[in-house]
Amino acid sequence: MNFKDKAFQLLLRNRRTNSLGQTYTVPSPETYPYQWLWDSCFHAIVLAKLDPEAAISELRTILSHQLDDGMIPHIIFWNTKLSRPYNWGWGKGAITSITQPPMVAYAAQAIYHHTRETAFLEELFPRMLSFYKYLIERRDPRDHNLVSIINPDESGEDNSPRFDIPMHLSTDVSFFKHMYERHKLVRANRTCNFDEEMCMKQNFWVKDVPFNVIMIKNLEILAKLALLVKDQKAHEYAKLHAKLMREAMRDLMMEDGVFWATEGENNTHLKVTTWAHFMPLFAELYTPDEAKELIAKHFHDNDSLRSPFGIRTVSKQESSYRAAGFWRGPIWMAPHWFVYKGLREYGFEAEAEWILAASLKLMERNGFREYFNPETGKAYGAHNFTWGTLVLDMMES
Ligand code: GLC
Repeated sequence: MNFKDKAFQLLLRNRRTNSLGQTYTVPSPETYPYQWLWDSCFHAIVLAKLDPEAAISELRTILSHQLDDGMIPHIIFWNTKLSRPYNWGWGKGAITSITQPPMVAYAAQAIYHHTRETAFLEELFPRMLSFYKYLIERRDPRDHNLVSIINPDESGEDNSPRFDIPMHLSTDVSFFKHMYERHKLVRANRTCNFDEEMCMKQNFWVKDVPFNVIMIKNLEILAKLALLVKDQKAHEYAKLHAKLMREAMRDLMMEDGVFWATEGENNTHLKVTTWAHFMPLFAELYTPDEAKELIAKHFHDNDSLRSPFGIRTVSKQESSYRAAGFWRGPIWMAPHWFVYKGLREYGFEAEAEWILAASLKLMERNGFREYFNPETGKAYGAHNFTWGTLVLDMMES
């Protein structure tokens, strides 16, 4: 069976139907049996070419539990009979109290690209717009033109050492201690009633690089989608904020030729070298010269981010680097996909091909697993994990 068929089969196997008869996809039937926000966007991107109706349903379902203020929860527990590993904030409700990187506009554009249909855009655009407005208005209390996360899980990279300092954790923190501390943070945020500004001030206030890059790219896409649904005001709004955020990322995050996550009101740089250095390529934030330097210094250094099997999520030079540690070094397919897309934006074709070939090799050797040891290629974590299907989008783009 070729890779395309295998990818489609996995997405079909992980497809579920909610109580309203709508379909959505779980990232892994055993380990992640619910619906996740950025995972559903990844699914929609891949399904856009395989089964556009299912791709639309993926977005429709993930947007369906949006809060009144525009926030989209990072998990929907459609099947209430399944056990929940943790109370993520709103008691036993069907949703969580935190969000995830806002890839919805990108996913909607991918669907439009394949269908040229505007009916689903007209249906979903207001919800998308109110999500981006929520992030701009509620997650940037000091008008820095950068959006903040209130929990490491909102980054999608739950245990990344980028968050060790703001979490007051040492670089050799264990997986379970980390989880305990993140759950403690959920409880602390519940105490301030998830009032974003207060929670940030009191508990955890990080402006992360991938989250803000994703925001910029998606606002630019939202501006285009706004024209398709004839919403001129939304077009101007999205364009303006993408521009302001581009400027702010350079002003507040750039140092030594790369962008760093920041902490707190004063935007103190969190100087941990991770794959996030490559992420600004995705929204073309580096000038061509800066990008060349970045690739020379960080992509072609086998002792830092590039490993024999792919891109390490954390540099081998960091004391927090663990070849088998959850988000503390291993290769993951979503970061591979973002880096691949970014490299292609700049015409780094050989480097992009290298990522694609490395990704395919990992899939062939291990099947659709969650993450991979950069030194040995060994697979870990969830089985039948959907992120590997993003490789199909790399192959066909
Ligand atoms: C893990 C990942 C997160 C993902 C979730 C479901 O928690 O860190 O990014 O959304 O699994 O796949």
